[in-house]
Amino acid sequence: MTEAFAIAAAAPGGADQLHRIPLTLPEPGEGEVRLRHTAIGVNFLDVYIREGVYPWAVERDLIVGSEGAGVVEALGPGVTGLAVGDRVAYTIQTGAYATHRIAPAAMLVRLPAGVSDAQAAAAMLKGLTAHYLIHHSYPVQAGDTVLVHAAAGGVGLIMGQWLAAKGVRAIGTAGGPEKCKLALENGYAEVIDYRSEDFVARVQQITEGAGVPVVYDSVGADTVMGSLECLARFGLLVSFGQSSGKPDQLRIAHLAKGSWKVTRPTLFHYVTRRDWLEAASADLFDMIASGKVQLRIGRESPLSEAADVHRALEGRQTTGSTVLVP
Ligand SMILES: NC(=O)c1ccc[n+]([C@@H]2O[C@H](COP(=O)([O-])OP(=O)(O)OC[C@H]3O[C@@H](n4cnc5c(N)ncnc54)[C@H](OP(=O)(O)O)[C@@H]3O)[C@@H](O)[C@H]2O)c1
Repeated sequence: MTEAFAIAAAAPGGADQLHRIPLTLPEPGEGEVRLRHTAIGVNFLDVYIREGVYPWAVERDLIVGSEGAGVVEALGPGVTGLAVGDRVAYTIQTGAYATHRIAPAAMLVRLPAGVSDAQAAAAMLKGLTAHYLIHHSYPVQAGDTVLVHAAAGGVGLIMGQWLAAKGVRAIGTAGGPEKCKLALENGYAEVIDYRSEDFVARVQQITEGAGVPVVYDSVGADTVMGSLECLARFGLLVSFGQSSGKPDQLRIAHLAKGSWKVTRPTLFHYVTRRDWLEAASADLFDMIASGKVQLRIGRESPLSEAADVHRALEGRQTTGSTVLVP
């Protein structure tokens, strides 16, 4: 291995904590694989982890990054079903902002010919999230009308296309006219600019007062109470992120107004089940290879520019997926 390096956060904090560190990897252990990354996905989760929203497993120099694709370089004892040279992808909470990594073989899936490394790196975490949101959190039916916040973001653009392919009428929200236009081009039937419009009033207008059976809300603090008001009676709030801050104003008593339900799911409870990971990845790769879900990589940057990329993501300046190239 030559010039192996990683981008690590020195301590929990802002994007300026991200810095380059040299990388020396051990040989892969039992059930592990060493990968050379070819493309690395950037996610809002990486920002939360960098900030220390979730406790760190190390004292300092945490290598952030939760999604990647690459080539198998070495196999540890006991690994079956993979060979040196295989193209693979994964989502694991940390460790992806690196030229190389050690990964458990159980978290890797082989890439089919119809899916490029950049597509896989842009879609493993975001696309598998879209998968469980629309098949498990609330299994949508053709003809449903649903609401998705941050529709022009990484998860949002995949959701719009996947929902459209299933015959669902998706209403999206996005910040500003450019993002609204992009969301409309990616499957959404209606898009509300929630910076300039009252999204609750608009959803009630679009649904003729009926509301929606499900709101997929990853924005959190700024939208959560309005999201409830968009729900039909017995509707479900899927609170799956907090880009604007924790949605801590929500109290159980608020649900009584519409006999509403709320769930707060996380992808990592799904991907650690090998049968789910294989089946959901196969579905996702079919959607990509068939062109039903087209990945919009809004920005591709060298791995060494990860701090700038984080500033753009936090500053609401990105659209679609962002990929780092080692
Ligand atoms: N629970 C899970 O399993 C899971 C898995 C994957 C992702 N997620 C969550 O899903 C969300 C989307 O992830 P992503 O990586 O695809 O990010 P993203 O949607 O590309 O970026 C976040 C977007 O949130 C919107 N936003 C609203 N208020 C914001 C604020 N105060 N600061 C920053 N952004 C704000 C912005 O879009 P506008 O400018 O259009 O408002 C921004 O572009 C994140 O909250 C992430 O944590 C959860």
